[in-house]
Parts: sequence; C-alpha cells; structure tokens
Amino acid sequence: MEIINRRQRMSSVARKIRREQDRTIGLVPTMGALHEGHLSLVREARRMCDVVVVSVFVNPAQFGPGEDYERYPRDLTKDTALLTDYNVDYIFAPTVEEMYPKGFATYVTIEGLSDQLEGAARPGHFRGVATVVTILLNTVRPDFAFFGQKDAQQALIIKRLVRDLAFDSEIVVLPTVREDSGLAISSRNLYLSADEQAAARVIHSALVQVKTAYREGERNAGRLADSIRSIIEAEPRARLDYVTVADAETLEKLDKLDDKSVLIAVAVYIGKTRLIDNTILSSAKKKDTAMARS
Ligand code: PAJ
Repeated sequence: MEIINRRQRMSSVARKIRREQDRTIGLVPTMGALHEGHLSLVREARRMCDVVVVSVFVNPAQFGPGEDYERYPRDLTKDTALLTDYNVDYIFAPTVEEMYPKGFATYVTIEGLSDQLEGAARPGHFRGVATVVTILLNTVRPDFAFFGQKDAQQALIIKRLVRDLAFDSEIVVLPTVREDSGLAISSRNLYLSADEQAAARVIHSALVQVKTAYREGERNAGRLADSIRSIIEAEPRARLDYVTVADAETLEKLDKLDDKSVLIAVAVYIGKTRLIDNTILSSAKKKDTAMARS
C-alpha cells in the first residue's frame, strides 16, 4: 500500500493503472476517522475493482463557520493500519494546500437538490462536497466510486453531479451500517458521552416506528413527521433539528404519500453533537437499504 499526498502523483499512478495495466479502479472518498460504515464501502470496492483507492481528506469547504472542522477527528496512522488490513492499494491523503492551491476559485453547485434538508441547515455544505468530489473524481478517474446511504442527500447529489457533468465513473451507494443499538455509525459518534450514546438510540427507534406506521397504511406525511417529532422530543438529551418527508429521488417535500419511494430524513442534536439519519419508505417490497446503483 502506498500513501499518496500529491494530486499529480495520484493522477499519474491512476493513469498508469488504467492505460498500461487495463485494471479497474474503485475510489472510496472519506474524511478519515474510519469506522465500519467506511469499511463496508472499502469491502465492496475490493470485491468489485482490481485497484482500490481510499481518499482521506477533511474538506474545509464543506464545513460552515462555527462547525466542527477544527476538532473533526483525524488519525491517519490508525486509518492506515485499518486500510492495510483491508488490502487497499492506495491512500490518497492530500493537504488542504494540495487540494485547494493558492488562487483556487472554481466551485460546483447542484441546484435544487442542494437547497433542502442538510443544504438548508448547512448553507454551502454541498457546494463544498460537490467541489471536492469533482476534484477527487478528476484526479483518480475511478471506474466506480462508493458512497453510503447514511448520507442520503449527498449520495443523490453526487449521482446528479456525475450525470450532469458526464463523469466517466459509476456511483455505487451502499446501505447504512448501524451499531447493535440501531445508531447509525458516524465519525461524530466519537463526540458522544456514554449517556449521549444511549440517548442517540432514539433516532433509529423513531425511524423504525414511522416505518411500521407506514407499513400499517399511514400515508399522511404530516402525521409521520409529527410522530418522529414526538418520539425524539420525549428524549431529554435530544433536540430535533429537522424532520423531512420527501420524494426519495427529487427531495421535493410531500404532503401525501403515494406509490413513490419516500425519504424520511432527520437531523438531531444529542447534546451539542448533530447527527443525521434516514430511512426509505417504499410500498414496493424493496428493502430501504437495498443497494442502489446509478
Ligand atoms: P465521511 O463522513 O467520512 O463519509 C465517507 C463515506 O462513508 C460517505 O459516502 C458516507 O455516506 C459513508 N458512511 C459514513 N457512515 C456510514 C455508515 N454508517 N454506513 C454506511 N456508509 C457510511 O461523507 C463524507 O465523508 C464527505 O462528505 C466526502 C464524501 C468524503 C466528501 O468530503
């Protein structure tokens, strides 16, 4: 395994793999502090591709003022050890200056899809995500790039980016990996105290309860959202930031649900830590975590 810090070196290594060796490349973009969620993507990349590149880069452009950019967990030594076990070929771990050289002035915005949910709560967030993912896709030019359903809106936005700007990579979206308690695994779970970890279970349990209500025939979006709100508000350490019931493809807010797949997405503060989670409701007999490929 090689750790690459330079964009130019990453491009030339990837070019060689494609042209001279005719091997497929899988890219797993991450911000490090790797956990089982990330590793599930790495595992699938390893299964599907000849060469696996994992990028580790805490991207300043996707953090707003007052967010946790400075204190976001960073441990490249530990991440490297984990990725060695997974037989990863390259870690691409550039510095901020390498990714955003002096005079950097080009940003990518996905209109519409970026304005809702996380985009509304974190202005500029998806501009930062789309920009860094564009740089990563252009640098590595992978055959496949792997993302998690945990960040449902991000996955949709990246699929749209790839389609609209004609990137030659296929986006693979994989199911959310959870703790035994149901809590979606996240690097930000490291911020939670033991009590907060226990309280955070309420997020998944609220999503499971609306899923049951949906299965039993509830089709009123307002009532589903209200039931999430009341379950989360019953937990004293939790504060709901938003709950949205939206079309799972367009993210358009819905009042009444029909046969289309529906995304229920929540952002919840547990103490000072903001966590997101989601589920897909679908009247077809698909599982919400079914693998979705663009
Ligand atoms: P990060 O939060 O490190 O997540 C990297 C990838 O892992 C994302 O595709 C995310 O959806 C996926 N992931 C995180 N937790 C997961 C879980 N519990 N189950 C399944 N997948 C999970 O998302 C980002 O970084 C950044 O925005 C990035 C795309 C790297 C751009 O900077």
